[in-house]
Amino acid sequence: MKTIIANWKMNVGVRESVALARGTLLALRGRRILPEVVICPPFIALSEVHKVVARSVVFLGAQNLFWEDHGAYTGEISGRMLTELGVSHVIVGHSERREYLGETDEMIRNKVTQALANQLNVIMCVGETASERKSGEQRERVRTQLVHVFAGVRLKSHERLMIAYEPVWAIGTGEIPEVAEVLAMNEYIRSILTDVLPEMDANKIRVLYGGSVEGNNAYSFLREQKIDGLLVGGASVKLNQLKEIIDATSEVLDAQKSL
Ligand code: PGA
Repeated sequence: MKTIIANWKMNVGVRESVALARGTLLALRGRRILPEVVICPPFIALSEVHKVVARSVVFLGAQNLFWEDHGAYTGEISGRMLTELGVSHVIVGHSERREYLGETDEMIRNKVTQALANQLNVIMCVGETASERKSGEQRERVRTQLVHVFAGVRLKSHERLMIAYEPVWAIGTGEIPEVAEVLAMNEYIRSILTDVLPEMDANKIRVLYGGSVEGNNAYSFLREQKIDGLLVGGASVKLNQLKEIIDATSEVLDAQKSL
């Protein structure tokens, strides 16, 4: 199985989101084996996009949630509200929210807890900045994020959680790490998950890669068995790019099947 998460960020309004959702469904048509595809439009488009993807193979994801169910939290959206709209997945801990909104590991832990309490599947992002990488601290950074976020979190099923390794320096920059680096980090992430979620088999938790994924580099990540999928930002709002990424996924899945 491979998972493709399309994070549309704040790039599209309602009309464009509906068109992209329709285009995504078309891009999946006629495939022998389907990847798991989760599209994450902005909040304002969730309801309309749900009408397009309901009863399809595509899952609906949100880009964020708040850590309380309801109350006086101006401008926030709760996990319970998301489930009302047919949302099944939620991205948590994205580096853009850490950077621009000041989200801390503690806030992210509360969001993860809230998402799980509402039966939402969590896509939790981790990754180091350029300066952390330069000083060789990437593992320590990712370890700290995982340990802080999952301290005390109870996970009932490995299927509820995906980790997206997204080096901050690779997001939206056109720069990507070597596939070998991603593989080594994925293995490291699984070793930390074994410690922080001892009741889970960390090998079963999906670990994805994200950061400047495009049609022309998707295959190099996807063909690795230990990379469970991709979190795609900029390229996911360009239908031709998204289609190329889905083509690459199908190629890998078809090859795996015929082995
Ligand atoms: P990008 O974004 O694909 O545009 O680099 C990835 C992400 O932020 O999830």
